[in-house]
Amino acid sequence: MADLKRIGVLTGGGDAPGLNAVIRAVVKTACNSGIEVIGLEDSFDGLIETDRSRVLTPRDVTGILRLGGTILGTTNRGNPFAYPVTTSEGTHDYSDRVVETFHKMKLEALIVIGGGGTLAIAHKFCTRGIPVVGVPKTIDNDIAGTTNCFGFDTAVDFATDAIDRLHTTAEAHHRIMVVEVMGRHAGWIALYAGVAGGADAILIPEISFDISIVADRLRARDRWGAKFSIVVVAEGSFPKGGTISLIEAANGGPVERLGGIGAQVCAALAAATGKETRSVVLGHLQRGGAPTSFDRVLATRFGGKAVELARCGEFGTMVAFDPPAIVARRLDEVVGKIKVVPADHDLLLTARALGVTFGD
Ligand code: F6P
Repeated sequence: MADLKRIGVLTGGGDAPGLNAVIRAVVKTACNSGIEVIGLEDSFDGLIETDRSRVLTPRDVTGILRLGGTILGTTNRGNPFAYPVTTSEGTHDYSDRVVETFHKMKLEALIVIGGGGTLAIAHKFCTRGIPVVGVPKTIDNDIAGTTNCFGFDTAVDFATDAIDRLHTTAEAHHRIMVVEVMGRHAGWIALYAGVAGGADAILIPEISFDISIVADRLRARDRWGAKFSIVVVAEGSFPKGGTISLIEAANGGPVERLGGIGAQVCAALAAATGKETRSVVLGHLQRGGAPTSFDRVLATRFGGKAVELARCGEFGTMVAFDPPAIVARRLDEVVGKIKVVPADHDLLLTARALGVTFGD
């Protein structure tokens, strides 16, 4: 075991329920081993500006296990290698400053809790000599190398509850209700919440859809007497031969904003079936609120394992869930990849066997 004295921790990218649980686990585990923890604010901003960090003691993390958000703040627009600045220069490279600040602060390891984008940045810093351990976070569950990310279970739970509520009003009015959920280019939230909520159609980015096939399925329900239907649409899904619907293009920046496909599917189904149809976008509600017990436990295990890897000098790694164990994966083997729903995933096949349409 390395004799670490001081480590840094930061949260980057979109927030996910369970971030605070990881921070708490990191701080408590490290402090119990005599390691001081410095909390860096708003992702790598805490290493760009020297006044954006603070010591975290067990007292500072008491009571945060059940809280959504992150006590450290986060951003998905602060890549130090291409930092957006409002000058004619456009973006600026602050990576040298990050490396310099890391050493000036006498940090000996950096625990980076983030999604695909943040972990890719962490990996780049690792090649520049910062000893990094990554912790995968995203409600989208699309990070390669881990079966689960914390936040996903909470998002699915919330979306399932929303679908349950929509069921009763859909049935009362004999309507089609379309629910748009998050997930970027992966359909995990739509698939899990769709099955858990008993949806009749689930549209995911991995399977481009034909709206007439979805409409046929819903008309068939009408014929046998179920005069309402629930359609779950992942924000990244798109029709055959069509494109992804964006609220905002990346415009040279790091992130595009997906959204709008739910309303399009809603209008198309209304036209195709002649039925009253309504759409709901669950949006950031899926990211807010308290983490489920599953996510609290997973986040706590991730945080504890991240400190263990740092103490063992296993840098350039990411903690991962490989049931039943928490394991280490090499960052260079997971960054740049996304984990999508495979065509032969058992839940997808089970849903198909139950009569759920994926529009193909
Ligand atoms: O990656 C998590 C996620 O919630 C996606 O599902 C969604 O597309 C995106 O973040 C939205 O991010 P924001 O609105 O914070 O830019």
